[in-house]
Amino acid sequence: MTVSDKTLARLKQAAGPRGYLDDPEAIAPYCTPFRDGWVGETPLVLRPDTTEMVAALVRICAETGTPIVPQGGNTGMTGGGLPHPGGDEVILSTGRLNRIRGIDPLNDTITAEAGVVLADIRSAAEGVDRLFPLLLGAQGSCQIGGNLSTNAGGINVVRYGNVRSMVLGLEVVTGDGEVWDGLRALRKDNAGYDLKHIFIGAEGTLGIITAAVLRLVARPRERQTALVEVADPQAAVELLARLRGAMGDVVSAFELMHRNCFTLATRTLGHADPMPGQRPWRVLLDLTGQQPPGALREPLEEVLADALEAGLVSDAIVAASGAQADALWRIREDQAEVQRQAGKGIKHDISVPVSLVPDFIARADAAMERAYPGHVVCTFGHLGDGNIHYNPIEPPGWEQARWVAETGPINRIVHDIVADLGGSITAEHGVGRLRLAELVHYKSAVEIDLMRRLKRAFDPANILNPGKVLPAQGG
Ligand code: FAD
Ligand code: MLT
Ligand code: ZN
Repeated sequence: MTVSDKTLARLKQAAGPRGYLDDPEAIAPYCTPFRDGWVGETPLVLRPDTTEMVAALVRICAETGTPIVPQGGNTGMTGGGLPHPGGDEVILSTGRLNRIRGIDPLNDTITAEAGVVLADIRSAAEGVDRLFPLLLGAQGSCQIGGNLSTNAGGINVVRYGNVRSMVLGLEVVTGDGEVWDGLRALRKDNAGYDLKHIFIGAEGTLGIITAAVLRLVARPRERQTALVEVADPQAAVELLARLRGAMGDVVSAFELMHRNCFTLATRTLGHADPMPGQRPWRVLLDLTGQQPPGALREPLEEVLADALEAGLVSDAIVAASGAQADALWRIREDQAEVQRQAGKGIKHDISVPVSLVPDFIARADAAMERAYPGHVVCTFGHLGDGNIHYNPIEPPGWEQARWVAETGPINRIVHDIVADLGGSITAEHGVGRLRLAELVHYKSAVEIDLMRRLKRAFDPANILNPGKVLPAQGG
């Protein structure tokens, strides 16, 4: 069933001439993902610029039973912000809801609309000498509404938590087109259920986030970056514990990368591999704090020297300048693009307790090598959070189609190990369309039923991003 001409006309009228796109060429980028082969079709992209307009559009959709796909920066990795094929859903893009409504440095808060790009929130915070600590490779394109709806993680979770922990209040348009004004800038508020947490990470299936009050933190004065060659993932975990034990809560990023990530970055994007060593595992880390510039360097070098002596570490580069640190981080931040160009990685976004990451990697690598000898290991991720992107690429000589056809069996190998270790099949990217079947496979019937009840309560007409997070009923 496509959206009727009458409904399209009503939506266009409510959105006003600047508030929609219906030209297929203009619509195409909204239907095309950054990565992966999702196909999306829609006759209409709505681009409201006020919360009231969002509410008016949702009311029309609720009345006419028209499904809405909320979309922010369209950098999501699971197809959650893209419509299904068939053209019977409209996209609601938040790109024009892009005002910063206020900033309060004494309350350490910023109030921003859903369409503000993450990098702009970070810049606004810097403008008042604060840090908004969410940081991911897509920061120049992703929007805060999308970040909240995916409960984004990124590279600083180890220190600051995921974005859920940075939210004090939300404004949301509900599935029947009402506005919930929960824009409270409170650090303590036990007056009833904490509704904001229902919408955070709901991937647009329970409400449309239109604005948020976000928590800011002190802007670090000191930063040390190091690339460290470690004996193995277990040594990396022990290094993290040693850093924390010696220096306290200054580790703000702690990323594990297989050496292949560097080799592929050299081959695809022309990066220079900064380290000559051939050992498979490296850690890229940041320490930050309020200490005077340079103060963390000596203690870092001491921990690294001790770790070298203990056989945990075999080489280390402590960046000598901000520019060198940035160059090291570019190799990490470019991994999504590197791996897009390098072959067909079967993507996983798993988490297990930090202490069990070495177990996970050892078991998954052994099982994968048995099943697919010669496949290219391309493992990296947020070790400090127990979150690994386990993205094996096809063995040399394999057709990509043959490799893609193995996605189901590969998922089963990887996710069975994750389940056995008490982990999650998606740590930060979410379910979207990509992991619907996996979610149902691994969650208990009780949990799926509770999720369905929540969905029915918040979106009785089933118009908010249907078929995402939870399979369509009966599926
Ligand atoms: P979109 O992709 O537009 O949408 C994502 C989901 O949220 C969809 O389900 C959509 O329907 C819903 N949605 C969007 N806006 C709203 C709204 N206002 N109200 C309700 N629902 C809404 N993710 C990480 O977690 N950590 C990383 O380190 C990371 N690194 C990345 C690096 C690169 C280079 C890229 C391309 C992506 C990366 N991502 C990462 C994935 C992605 O950037 C995040 O998931 C991000 O939070 C998505 O934001 P977005 O604005 O692009 O949302
Ligand atoms: C990252 O950590 O770089 C992202 O989550 C993107 C990816 O998984 O490719
Ligand atoms: Zn990630």
